[in-house]
Amino acid sequence: MGWRRSGHFASLTEDEEKKERPKVASDWTLAKWIMKYLFKDFRSLAIITLVLVGLGSVLALASPKIMQVIIDDVFNTEFIKSIDERFNLLLIMTLILLSVAIITAVISIFRTVLLYKIGYNTVKKIRTDTFTHLQKLSLKFFDTQESGRLISKVTNDCDKINELMSGGIITSLIDFLTLIGISIMLLVMNWQLALWCFLFSIPPTLLISYFFKRRARKAYRKTRKTIANVTANLSESISGVKVSKSFTREKRNIQEFRTVNQENREANMKAVAVFATTFPLFNFIASAVVGFVYFYGGWTLIFGSTAILKAVTIGEAIAFTQYVSNFFRPILNLTMFYNTFQSTMAATERVYDLNHSTSDVVEKTDAYILPEIKGHVKFEDIVFGYKENELVLSKFNLEVSPGEAIAIVGPTGSGKTTIVNLLGRFYEILEGNILIDDHNIQDVTLNSLHSQMGIVLQDPYLFSGTIAENIVYNQKDVPFDDIQVAADSVNAHEFIERMSKGYDTEVGERGSKLSLGQRQLISFARALLPNPKILILDEATSSVDPYTELLIKKALDKLLSGRTSFIIAHRLSTVRNADRIIVIKDGAIIEEGTNEDLLAKKGEYYRLYQLQFKDQENGSNGH
Ligand SMILES: Nc1ncnc2c1ncn2[C@@H]1O[C@H](COP(=O)(O)OP(=O)(O)O)[C@@H](O)[C@H]1O
Ligand SMILES: [Mg+2]
Repeated sequence: MGWRRSGHFASLTEDEEKKERPKVASDWTLAKWIMKYLFKDFRSLAIITLVLVGLGSVLALASPKIMQVIIDDVFNTEFIKSIDERFNLLLIMTLILLSVAIITAVISIFRTVLLYKIGYNTVKKIRTDTFTHLQKLSLKFFDTQESGRLISKVTNDCDKINELMSGGIITSLIDFLTLIGISIMLLVMNWQLALWCFLFSIPPTLLISYFFKRRARKAYRKTRKTIANVTANLSESISGVKVSKSFTREKRNIQEFRTVNQENREANMKAVAVFATTFPLFNFIASAVVGFVYFYGGWTLIFGSTAILKAVTIGEAIAFTQYVSNFFRPILNLTMFYNTFQSTMAATERVYDLNHSTSDVVEKTDAYILPEIKGHVKFEDIVFGYKENELVLSKFNLEVSPGEAIAIVGPTGSGKTTIVNLLGRFYEILEGNILIDDHNIQDVTLNSLHSQMGIVLQDPYLFSGTIAENIVYNQKDVPFDDIQVAADSVNAHEFIERMSKGYDTEVGERGSKLSLGQRQLISFARALLPNPKILILDEATSSVDPYTELLIKKALDKLLSGRTSFIIAHRLSTVRNADRIIVIKDGAIIEEGTNEDLLAKKGEYYRLYQLQFKDQENGSNGH
C-alpha cells in the first residue's frame, strides 16, 4: 500500500520492518484479503457502519458553526435584526444544536456496537477458516511448525486482526474524514487564518509524530519481546514442574522469572514514557494555535484586514478555536494507528500465511469413497523421503494378503514408521503406488481411507473428556454396548468398570488422570471400535508396563483375526506369532519369513533375537 512508501518518514522504518517480517504477501494482498471478509461476508453490516461513520463525521462539524451563528447573529446587539428574528434564530439554532447532540450520541452508540460486531464476526470467520484449513494440512506441515506458534496464530494473531478491524481501520477512517472536514470548514470560514494555522501547527506536528512513531515502535517491540519471554519461562516451568522439583531447581526458576518479569516492567515503563511525553506536546501545539487564533483576531480587529490577514467576527474566532482544538486528536490517533497497523499487519500476515499454506497431501477433486475393503495391501516401488534428496525408502515393495499379520522389525530409524505413515497417506510418496484392494490410495477420499484403518501409536493420546468419549472419538451414534465390547476385546473393560464413574470417568487433559497403560488400552479400544480392516500398531506396547503388555498380548489374537495388520515392535516376543516378519534396514527389506524361518536362517533377525534373549537372561527386558 502506498502509505509505507509515501511520506518522508516512512522510508526509515522500512528496513527495520523487513527484518521483522519475512515478506510473504504484500500489504495490498493482505488488505484485499481482509476486505474480502469485510465486504463479502458482512457486506450490509459494513456498509451501514460506513454510512454511520460518515454521518457522524459530518455532524461533528456542525456544532461550532451553529455556535458561530448564535454568537454573531443573536448575541451581537449591533446587528440590525429585529427581536423576533433574533429570538426565532436562537430557538431554531438551539434546537438544532440539541438534535445534533442527540443524533451524534445515538450514532456513536450504534457505530461502536457495529464496529465490534464486524470485528468479532470477521475474526470468528477467519479463525474458523484457519482451523478448517489446519485440519486439512498434512503431517509434513506440522513437522515444520511448533505447536505453540500455531496456537498463538489462531488465538493471539486473530485477536490482533479484530483490533485492526474494530479499533483500527474504521476509527482511522473517522479520524481521516474529520481531519478533511475540519480543514474544509476552516478554509471556507477564513482561508487566510486557516493557512496561518496550518503553517504554524503542521510542521511541529509532523515532527512529533515522526519521533513518536520511531520511539513507540521500539518500545512496543521490546514489550512484546519481554512478555513473550515471561510467557515462555512460565510455560516451561509449569510443564516441567515435576522435573524442576525433583532436581530442586525452584530457587533458580524464581530468580530467572524475576529477571524476565523485571525486563518486561522496564520495557513497559519505557513505552509509558513515550506516551507521557507525546500527548502533552500535542496538547501544547493545540493550545498554542488557539492562542494564535485569538491573537490574530485581536490584531485584525485593532489594525484592520489586509489581503493575507482577513478579520474575523467573534463567533468565527470561537468556532475556529473549537475546530482547531478538534484538529489534533485525529492526528494523534492516526499516528498511534500507524503503530497498531504495523503490528497487526505482521499478525495478519502470519494468519494469511497459515491460511494459504499448501499441503503436499491433497485429495483429488474426483476422489471417490473407498468401498468396504478386504484388506489386500500392495506397496509398489515406493520412493519417499521427508526431505528432498534424503530418501528413506527407495523402490520399496511389499504385498500383504487380506487378514495377514505382518510384523516389521529393524533398528531405530530404519523406516518402519515411515512405511505405515505412507499407508495412511499422512505424507505424499514421491514415486510408486500404494494399492488397497486395487484402489490407489491417492484416488480415494482421505476420510474413507482412514475410516477403514485403526492405528495405535507408542504414545497414547487422549483428549479431555470421558473414557467413553475417548473410545468413541470420531464415530457417530455408537451404542453403549459397542463401546463396552471394544473395551472388553482389549481387556480394558475390567479396569474401566473399577473406576468410580466407569465409562463416564473424566480422563483429564491428555488423559493425565490415567496411567500410561490404561491410556494405551483405551486407545486400543478406540482403534478397534469402527472394526477396521487394516490395523496398525506402531510400537504400541513399547512403553507400557509389563502387566498392560500382557493384557494386550492376550487380546492380540482376537484383535488381529480378520484384519490385515502391521505390527511394529522392538520386543521380538510380541511379534513371534505374526504370519510373516519382515526385517527392515535402511528402508529396505533384508529378510522376511516366519519366526522359525528367520531363526533358521541365522541372519539379522537371529542376531537381534539372540541379543534380546541375552538381555532377558541378564534381567533387563530388552528395551
Ligand atoms: N517427520 C520427519 N521429518 C524428517 N525426517 C524424519 C521424520 N520422521 C522420520 N524421519 C527420518 O526418517 C527415517 C526413518 O524414520 P522412521 O520411519 O520413523 O524410523 P523407525 O520407525 O524405523 O524408527 C529416520 O532417518 C528419521 O530420522
Ligand atoms: Mg518408529
